[in-house]
Amino acid sequence: MMGQLYLALLLLLPLAVGLDFSYHHTQEMEAFLKEVHRSHPDNTHLYSIGKSVEGRDLWVLALGRFPTQHTIGIPEFKYVANMHGDESVGRELMLHLIEFLVTSDEHDPVITRLLNSTRIHILPSINPDGFEATTQFDCFPPYGRYNANMQDLNRNFPDPFNSNNATVQPETQAVMNWIKNEMFVLSANLHGGSLVASYPFDNGNSVTITSDAISRTLDNDVFMHLARTYASNHAIMHKGTPCHNEDAFPEGITNGYAWYRLKGGMQDYNYIWGQCFEITLELSCCQYPPKEELPSFWNDNKMALIEYIKQVHLGVKGRVLDKHGTPIPDVIVEATGRQHVCPYKTHRNGEYYLLLLPGSYKLNATIPGFLSLLHDVYIPNGTANFSALQHDFVFPTEKPGRREMASCPMKPLYSLDYHKNTSATLKPTVNTLIFIYILYEVFR
Ligand SMILES: *[C@@H]1O[C@H](CO)[C@@H](O)[C@H](O)[C@H]1NC(C)=O
Ligand SMILES: *[C@@H]1O[C@H](CO)[C@@H](O)[C@H](O)[C@H]1NC(C)=O
Ligand SMILES: *[C@@H]1O[C@H](CO)[C@@H](O)[C@H](O)[C@H]1NC(C)=O
Ligand SMILES: *[C@@H]1O[C@H](CO)[C@@H](O)[C@H](O)[C@H]1NC(C)=O
Ligand SMILES: *[C@@H]1O[C@H](CO)[C@@H](O)[C@H](O)[C@H]1NC(C)=O
Ligand SMILES: *[C@@H]1O[C@H](CO)[C@@H](O)[C@H](O)[C@H]1NC(C)=O
Ligand SMILES: [Zn+2]
Repeated sequence: MMGQLYLALLLLLPLAVGLDFSYHHTQEMEAFLKEVHRSHPDNTHLYSIGKSVEGRDLWVLALGRFPTQHTIGIPEFKYVANMHGDESVGRELMLHLIEFLVTSDEHDPVITRLLNSTRIHILPSINPDGFEATTQFDCFPPYGRYNANMQDLNRNFPDPFNSNNATVQPETQAVMNWIKNEMFVLSANLHGGSLVASYPFDNGNSVTITSDAISRTLDNDVFMHLARTYASNHAIMHKGTPCHNEDAFPEGITNGYAWYRLKGGMQDYNYIWGQCFEITLELSCCQYPPKEELPSFWNDNKMALIEYIKQVHLGVKGRVLDKHGTPIPDVIVEATGRQHVCPYKTHRNGEYYLLLLPGSYKLNATIPGFLSLLHDVYIPNGTANFSALQHDFVFPTEKPGRREMASCPMKPLYSLDYHKNTSATLKPTVNTLIFIYILYEVFR
């Protein structure tokens, strides 16, 4: 009996002592994830969202008090890493984050509360084929960015502003299905090659792009807060020191479009079609740094990774019910002045989540073609309390049977001539102004 106990303790030891700081290839990563789930069956759930072109599983570890399924009132959060297969730091950070969460649960009160109140999904590699194709520890590896069909996954999503004719890849399709099935509220996409937190939009049109060459969402205040939360809790990102010969990023944050325009990106897709706020985190100047540097990357990012997850509790959440208390799905719930391109609607349990900064808002719950309810709410700082404000809507009727659906077609919502207006004229104009200003500063 005692012998068995000692043996069990010895077997547990490698995990308790810690995951090593090295790059974990497919088999080692799978072994690690399976071992974490085996030793923490109550607060973890391991599942695959599909397979890569070369047939590797796209593993996700979900963590929380109820890890296997959605629970009403508990928001869903995700981290997605290694989309460009050669940008390897995020992949290892995700494994260390998993280890930190499972070993801190029920020891550290903050992590315990976080896992009590949040379901956290971690996808350490959405491009395992690209990672395996990268053979060298090289700051800018020649191979591995793309998937096995040589497609850039962060240009492969449907785009609301331009038609995107790229063939949807299996990895992209897996993410799209995942977003449709879960009801993610907040997310981040981990990259490398720079050091900045970048927020939507990455693309835009004459409606979203303002004269300062920023492509803004109506939730720009929330997105800037999200990017600042990451950058300011990171050891160095907030200093805004440039990595290479590029522009400095004040506070370590940037609007995606203002940095450089891209179409088919994952963050715009999440926000427009997934009802999920996502930002893009560039975590290392060097895309594939030597493994000896991994401990310092973990130390620099650990607090930021945790603080960012807590932001899933910003704003307001609740249910929409009919007079009998039956949940109503597909009800549009938005704050006035913040209508989304595709209306944000209640999910199958009649639930909604809206990320909003503390303040006063008018919420609008609408059954299209039927009735709107307008409620004034004051939203406190929910992250401090690990819960968004709880606010339900009750329609004074039966749940309507057949009714209009808020539509959002999977096709470009705006047409935009790439070579006219916005990108071609606005950006140079702003750059020219800055250049003239610099000359003025230098020569006055
Ligand atoms: C977490 O939830 C458990 C019940 O599942 C409860 O006993 C515990 O007090 C909670 N801990 C915190 C820190 O909220
Ligand atoms: C996409 O394909 C359609 C039809 O094949 C074509 O009309 C359109 O110009 C293409 N768009 C781009 C951006 O290549
Ligand atoms: C409430 O939302 C619906 C659906 O988006 C919209 O048609 C209506 O104008 C909104 N009402 C107000 C007062 O904003
Ligand atoms: C919420 O409160 C925390 C301190 O508990 C603070 O750090 C954070 O900035 C606040 N968030 C907002 C959105 O005001
Ligand atoms: C904290 O959240 C709980 C629900 O989880 C709520 O009952 C309570 O009023 C909140 N407190 C504050 C200060 O927002
Ligand atoms: C250029 O922008 C103006 C105003 O912002 C708009 O009216 C016009 O339609 C745009 N032209 C094109 C080709 O996008
Ligand atoms: Zn990248």
